Amino acid sequence: MTERIVLLPGDGIGPEVTEQARLCLVAAGKQAGLEFEFQEELIGGASIDAHGTPLRDEVIEACRGSRAVLLGAVGGPKWDDMPVDVRPERGLLGIRKALGLFANLRPASVLPALVNASALRPEIVEGVDLLVVRELTGGIYFGEPRGRQGEKGNRTAVNGMFYAEHEIERIARVAFEQARLRRNHVTHVHKANVLDVSQLWVEVVDEVAADYPDVELAHQLVDSCAMLLVQEPKRFDVIVTGNLFGDILSDEAAMITGSLGMLPSASLATGGFGLFEPVHGSAPDIAGKDVANPLAAILSTAMLLETTFEAKDAAAAIRDAVSAVLAAGHRSGDLLLPGELRETVGCRRMGELVLEELERA
Ligand code: IPM
Ligand code: MN
Repeated sequence: MTERIVLLPGDGIGPEVTEQARLCLVAAGKQAGLEFEFQEELIGGASIDAHGTPLRDEVIEACRGSRAVLLGAVGGPKWDDMPVDVRPERGLLGIRKALGLFANLRPASVLPALVNASALRPEIVEGVDLLVVRELTGGIYFGEPRGRQGEKGNRTAVNGMFYAEHEIERIARVAFEQARLRRNHVTHVHKANVLDVSQLWVEVVDEVAADYPDVELAHQLVDSCAMLLVQEPKRFDVIVTGNLFGDILSDEAAMITGSLGMLPSASLATGGFGLFEPVHGSAPDIAGKDVANPLAAILSTAMLLETTFEAKDAAAAIRDAVSAVLAAGHRSGDLLLPGELRETVGCRRMGELVLEELERA
């Protein structure tokens, strides 16, 4: 039986990194007895150019008929002047909403080979291993009222932040379950000294915590969390938070590890269906030059293998292969230290190196 995967390469470096990820997925899947069939579709700017809209219903249907979705990145300067409602990013938000992908898991761990690639001191980042659990289909990203009014001199704009109890409860449960697989600690990040929405989060997260007496819970204000993340990142295990705070803090957490080019993510629906994508964006400045780092996309396929197919060994094989390639000294441009004179490898070569490691194992 072949397993259908929808590929949404998207814009910028999306297609390059997705191609390397696909090759690694095929190789690791084969070792686990999995055979894939890929269906490639357009999203974001690529879809705007071809069809006049960033996400078509046919694409959503194709995703629904698949086992999992592997996405690259969306957006670019070409579409930057478009109104928010028709921009490439709308495609990404649209697919998250349409597929009910409310739970966004963004792990950030520091690989031994990259301890020096972080802008923070090695003793601060060494051993960091945290997971941001970001609510992905609610909050200010989707809230009402929204929109702009008035003419110049009198312009106003509004975006409502709304959360219903059930939305908070289900993401909190995901966080507590993840903590049980890790170090049994959850930090809930909020702004309850100002926002009613955050006060509701604190209440509901506390209620859910009662079902997880084995997991320790801390509540942390978002501003102080931003500070603690750079001061003492090792104190965090699982961080759970709303859509907007999670967007910001996951980029910050990613940079602790040295490069946004290393971080994978999974966006999951009830029942476990998932879309997997690198946390980084479309990086239009380096697109098409074969210099992008495909490792975040490749590591996203490890999350896909373990989440969608429970293929833990195949996922571990991918992670081990990536670690081995880095330990052997290979670096893409984004992983170089300031002033470091080391030969870099391109996107395709980096993918090949991981494949070679996979085949050796
Ligand atoms: C992310 C991105 C998206 C977001 C954008 C591209 C809409 O920054 O996945 O973190 O804000 O969620
Ligand atoms: Mn983001």
